[in-house]
Amino acid sequence: MPAYRPLKVTVVDPNGVDSSPNARPMSTASDESRATTAAETGGQPSIDFEGTSNPYIDYQSIDLLLSLQHPRSTGYDEMCFIVMGQVKELLFRGIHHELVNAKHQIDQDQLEAAMEILHRAVVFLDYLADSWNVLSTISSDGFNQFRDSLGTASGQLSFMYRHVEFALGNKSRRLADAHRNLPHIWPGIENALNSPSLYDSVIALLSRRGLPIANSALDRDWAEPYQLNQSVQDAWRMVYQDRQPYEDLYGLGEQLLLLDTQFSVYRWRHYVTVERIIGNKPGTGGSSGVAWLEAVTKLRFFPELWSVRSS
Ligand code: HEM
Repeated sequence: MPAYRPLKVTVVDPNGVDSSPNARPMSTASDESRATTAAETGGQPSIDFEGTSNPYIDYQSIDLLLSLQHPRSTGYDEMCFIVMGQVKELLFRGIHHELVNAKHQIDQDQLEAAMEILHRAVVFLDYLADSWNVLSTISSDGFNQFRDSLGTASGQLSFMYRHVEFALGNKSRRLADAHRNLPHIWPGIENALNSPSLYDSVIALLSRRGLPIANSALDRDWAEPYQLNQSVQDAWRMVYQDRQPYEDLYGLGEQLLLLDTQFSVYRWRHYVTVERIIGNKPGTGGSSGVAWLEAVTKLRFFPELWSVRSS
């Protein structure tokens, strides 16, 4: 166990923070105003600001963000765990934004835009998977020093992660229900549960492009997890067998497959990191722990893009 204890450093006095979640009022700038400022400062960065804030802080409420890290134990590793937990929530937010927008572009038949957006989603996912590099520096002993402070808190209750899973089509009424008691969060989760996913939009696109898709894949209960559909597999097979008329759909299929692969890497790294840290102990969120995480590594969002490879 780390025998050393963390030093607590105050970087923000919480009394001075505007804790409103709204965007703070601030002025905009232009090429002209930047040129004037640079002439006035002789090319040096500005250092004089009015009031008790500055534009960098106001643009993204940075002082509020940096006053939200509160280790609850004396365990050295808890600050690292909290910072990385928050970083991952922000990455889930970023990925979700890309997925929702890629879906929107696909619904408009704008495949070029969708591909550009999906590329960023994949790069985000690489970054997310790499976040386990930092977390895996937490030893089993180090984790034990603060694990009790988590109570029953578990990443499994991350509503932002649930949004990402739902946007990709891995629906679960049961896991959605964990957010029913949160009036500020539940409407969004309920709506995502009952809405078509990115892949549902892709299937509708295949149909619009003249590929024969069964009605059961085009109109279904969106809250149900997506199940492999033979007509969708046959459609992808046509695209893969004869790329020429479907070059853009082929590219889309490969990009989605990359996304599914990277998500799998993320899940797998979570599972292995957790096995290293807590072995076979039950999770804080009520699951069997590592066995449950191992089982979810088998999940695939776009099953036909995998099965078509066998045919
Ligand atoms: C490094 C220490 C960590 C350990 C030991 C750990 C352990 C676990 C365990 C055992 C589960 C299964 C559910 C349960 O709690 O019973 C789980 C699920 C989950 N954890 Fe972690 N976790 C860690 C870090 C994180 C971090 C930093 C995040 C980021 C927010 C995170 C996000 C999640 C998510 C989203 C799930 C649900 C997975 C799914 O629904 O497929 N975990 N974790």
